[in-house]
Amino acid sequence: PLFPVILAGGKGERFWPLSRQDRPKQFLSLDGSSRSLLQSTADRLVKLAGGWNELWVITSSQLGLGVQQQLPEIPSQNILIEPQGRDTAAAVAWASLEIQKRYGDDAIIGFFPSDHWIADQAAFARTLDAATQLAASTEAIVTLGIKPSFPSTGYGYIEQGQQIGSFNELPAYHVNRFTEKPNRETAETFLATGRFSWNSGMFVFRAGVVLKELHTHAPEIIEPLEKLGVEVYPQLPKKSIDYALMEKTSLVYVLPAEFGWDDLGDWNAIERLLKKADTPNVELATHVGLDTQGAILYSTSPDDVIVTIGLEDVVIVRDRNVTLIVNKERTQEIKQVLKTLQSDP
Ligand code: GDD
Ligand code: MG
Repeated sequence: PLFPVILAGGKGERFWPLSRQDRPKQFLSLDGSSRSLLQSTADRLVKLAGGWNELWVITSSQLGLGVQQQLPEIPSQNILIEPQGRDTAAAVAWASLEIQKRYGDDAIIGFFPSDHWIADQAAFARTLDAATQLAASTEAIVTLGIKPSFPSTGYGYIEQGQQIGSFNELPAYHVNRFTEKPNRETAETFLATGRFSWNSGMFVFRAGVVLKELHTHAPEIIEPLEKLGVEVYPQLPKKSIDYALMEKTSLVYVLPAEFGWDDLGDWNAIERLLKKADTPNVELATHVGLDTQGAILYSTSPDDVIVTIGLEDVVIVRDRNVTLIVNKERTQEIKQVLKTLQSDP
């Protein structure tokens, strides 16, 4: 059995203005289904766990209430609320400590982002079962590797080493090196070797194994948490688990993730999610366009009409009082603009 923990404390800023402070993207449905990204993630994971009582969520104080409302099936003791967001290393450390306290060192824990799209649910379940077997039999931090399709600078890269066996017919490899968000040049050299996959952002390990590795590689996070409890949270360094642990430990293993995966990171993901090959634009709004190619158009109000003439590769989003117009290539920079806005309008 696996204790899945959903990481749900991110702000989803690259989906602004659809995601706002009180309503981040994990609370939204981006594909028109009735379940939000968070709810879909939970639906997928509850099947891997013993039931709702064995599913956990870790989130920020701003989002705690929203998480409880969206997932009323999860007992409130399993919803960990961080006094302040300190990125994913602190979140993994705290949740692992809590699960270890309740279920012991051999409890197998899986961490899952709340903003992923998964195509084949049965293949996903088979892969996670393989990851659970690997983590049970080996001192391993198990990652799932995605076949890379372009030299992205937004992902972690995993270099495959020796094969150590197979689980549910999936080959398991030891990992030579983990590199978080390399620059473009490095990403290109990685791809050229054919030995690298993208890190899916999901991790599986035994409680005792991750806590031991955190003691070795991130004592500045795990020691204060262990000694002083969650009160110390605001003083913890802000680091992601990828930098704090994955790049440093030698216990990383990888299984191929062949279930159809996408990271719903920014507006371009909507295009990948919804685009049919024969449509030049992705329109989630009433659109009148002349000479408009490759546009992504989204409006939350059914009365809106968006008119475009002679545009290429733009994203236009209308939500309540805000209109965003951005070049498709530069959607990552929404984060920077938000810093300069006095407050989220
Ligand atoms: N509880 C909590 N607290 N959750 C957080 C926090 C926090 O402070 N910060 C982020 N999260 C959650 C996000 O909501 C998301 O579900 C998950 O943790 C991952 O955070 P991201 O901020 O989305 O990470 P990333 O996309 O830049 O990179 C990670 O995911 C990639 C794949 O999508 C890394 O693991 C990469 O290596 C990986 O390739
Ligand atoms: Mg992400």
